[in-house]
Amino acid sequence: MDTESSVETKKSEYFLQLAEKLENTRDLTDEELFALLESDSEEVDSLLAERARKVRERIYGKDVYLRGLIEFTNYCKNDCYYCGIRRSNRNAERYRLSAEQILECSDLGYELGFRTIVLQGGEDPYFTDDRLVTIIKGIKERHPDCAVTLSIGERDKESYQKLFDAGADRYLLRHETADKCHYEQLHPKELSFEHRMQCLRDLHEIGYQVGCGMMVGSPYQKTEHLIKDLRFLQEFKPEMVGIGPFIPHHDTEFADKPAGTAKLTIKLLSIIRLMLPDCLLPATTALGTVDPKGREKGILAGANVVMPNLSPGNVRGKYLLYDNKICTGDEAAECIRCMAARVEKVGYRVVESRGDHIGFRN
Ligand code: 5AD
Ligand code: FES
Repeated sequence: MDTESSVETKKSEYFLQLAEKLENTRDLTDEELFALLESDSEEVDSLLAERARKVRERIYGKDVYLRGLIEFTNYCKNDCYYCGIRRSNRNAERYRLSAEQILECSDLGYELGFRTIVLQGGEDPYFTDDRLVTIIKGIKERHPDCAVTLSIGERDKESYQKLFDAGADRYLLRHETADKCHYEQLHPKELSFEHRMQCLRDLHEIGYQVGCGMMVGSPYQKTEHLIKDLRFLQEFKPEMVGIGPFIPHHDTEFADKPAGTAKLTIKLLSIIRLMLPDCLLPATTALGTVDPKGREKGILAGANVVMPNLSPGNVRGKYLLYDNKICTGDEAAECIRCMAARVEKVGYRVVESRGDHIGFRN
């Protein structure tokens, strides 16, 4: 009995040391990361969350930044195995918003207090550079104090440059996995790991605040892959990191694969906060989908961004990357009120601010 409890004490001490080392040096060895990621102890998770909170509060206080998400097209030319709006899903009801509809959404977002508008969509060739430039300029003219974030996939560098010159400030492009073989298990042959990485480098070179990130618990993912993801984040130094659990979609190749867990996602949020102290880290909708309190737990583990949905009510139920997505029935105003209440309940506050990365403030 005594030896058993002394083993437990030693283990706790070891994890306490790891959390301390991670906070102080922003780094751990692969072996140490492996031990943290594989541990199923609640105590370890709360140890990490506590330190992650401390670090985020030192930099960002209690502020939680809002991003108004406009899902403006669910047409996509790609066929990623995990994604519900992949081109070969004949059951997806396709839609595109008009420029006017997008601008109206941004007006509503502005009124509701959003100072970042995120334009997210599938890779839809209808949205040429010219069309997107008009939309970006339109938002910027009406709301010069808003940041515009794009999340529209892989394009060439000239295109990224044009959109940046039109006024786009930030770009979200998840790397999905930092392991080439794993990337190929999640994507068809025509999509390449190298091109994905090239896009991320191009975006940084142009001057965007860049967000990358991975799905947690995606099919075939091993702890070793997650360690590679963390190493990639340390090296690339993105301004934002979007992570969420993989959730199967019934019309995809991965319909029968298990979902990633809230627990591992939340642990990774804490580790990422400790590795990249000043990054912008959303508590994602996918996290809120696998656990009704997921977003709150994410905030308590170091996340400092939430992304309520601003898409018009009649298309919300059609932008379904995965099953059981939350907030598809709510109006934007309702969604933001609900989000603000959730954030306040855990001791934080949503703020009316662009919420730039601290390296991009003037
Ligand atoms: N489960 C969870 N996240 C998904 N995404 C796409 N499909 C799924 C899914 N089935 C994520 C990808 C993509 C982002 C927009 O949504 O990481 O980059
Ligand atoms: Fe959308 Fe709660 S955040 S309904």
